[in-house]
Amino acid sequence: MKYGPRLGVNKMFLNRKPKCAVLQCVLILTSILFLGFVLIKSQFNLASTDKNIPAKNKIGFENNGRHLYKRSGLRVNFETNNLDLRIIVITYNRPMSMLRCLNSLNDVDYVGHRVKLDIFIDRSSESKKVDQETYSIAKAFSFLHGEKTVNVHKKNVGLYGQWLDTWRPTEDNKEIAVILEDDMTVSPYFYKWLRAAHAHYDTRADVSGYALANVYQLAAAPGGIVVPLNYTAYMYAILGSWGFSPHRDRWQEFLVWYDSASTNASFNPYVEGIRHTEWYKSFQKTNSEGSMWTMWHIYFSHIHKLYCVFPNLPDRYMFGQNHHEAGLHYSGNVKADQLDKLVSKSNWNPDFLKMPKNAIKVDYYGRISFR
Ligand SMILES: *[C@@H]1O[C@H](CO)[C@@H](O)[C@H](O)[C@H]1NC(C)=O
Ligand SMILES: *[C@@H]1O[C@H](CO)[C@@H](O)[C@H](O)[C@H]1NC(C)=O
Repeated sequence: MKYGPRLGVNKMFLNRKPKCAVLQCVLILTSILFLGFVLIKSQFNLASTDKNIPAKNKIGFENNGRHLYKRSGLRVNFETNNLDLRIIVITYNRPMSMLRCLNSLNDVDYVGHRVKLDIFIDRSSESKKVDQETYSIAKAFSFLHGEKTVNVHKKNVGLYGQWLDTWRPTEDNKEIAVILEDDMTVSPYFYKWLRAAHAHYDTRADVSGYALANVYQLAAAPGGIVVPLNYTAYMYAILGSWGFSPHRDRWQEFLVWYDSASTNASFNPYVEGIRHTEWYKSFQKTNSEGSMWTMWHIYFSHIHKLYCVFPNLPDRYMFGQNHHEAGLHYSGNVKADQLDKLVSKSNWNPDFLKMPKNAIKVDYYGRISFR
């Protein structure tokens, strides 16, 4: 009875203009569907990218989450709120480096915490292919401390996509994340240090994140950075991207700002008076600034007076080491630091976890202040 009148109207409608109305409806509906399809397709450009990829490169996706990234076409689920640590390994075509990195992750003491390993593999910018060996090794790797996922970007995303799209935490997410390029190795003690560092400094509003390695000395102030060793950690104005663990809130703010600022083609993230800006400008001259996403973070940190926390250990030992391999940053002729500087059983000291309450701050020029 409830639907009676409506059916009646339909009947009347159909009775008056029988074939014509039905045909019109079908035509309009088809057009709407087609237009919608074209719009969605052009926005994300997924299907057309996939068309260029040979069948053997059509690799399945293990994540079926909710966040779809325009850069990569990848869906990643960050809804998992029960993790203590999320390790993100970004890689492209250095399978042996990646394996060395992954093996070092298996040797870490995670103090029984809930850990997840997310591996992200980029595609070639030219052929759009996935490096099969990298993919096979990532899939075959057995992570001994928690769940592992292997995520293949749907298109080439470069270092920007690898860094900026692989950790987008929700506001109530309490996990610590660390992003590792594949030519990194970590100390078995890195998580202990990272957890302590977050616990000491996460409440500060001027912390952009935490770095496992030391400040890159070439980039540092002319005289290097010298901080008294009774300070087990210090804050420096420029992030360390060798094992970077972002502060959740500052990272969210940075990503929102970047998404908007980077749409302005006449804006450049220059910070006057530092070498990074000169490097970035020289990259721009060869259209290769795409390898230096960090310049945007440096600029963001500059305008908001943010600092990155670094370990300050005897003999410059560290919790993550970069092996300076050929890739997007280096052409391979940078002399590798052969010396293993990772904190190990023989030089680990639990006092490393006691960090100064009043952190020491180091500016671009190596000048120290306390605040
Ligand atoms: C480090 O040593 C200096 C000089 O001995 C002292 O003034 C400072 O308070 C010490 N800082 C810490 C965090 O122990
Ligand atoms: C884009 O950047 C330029 C250079 O920094 C600036 O002058 C301009 O106001 C910006 N435009 C918008 C819409 O923000």
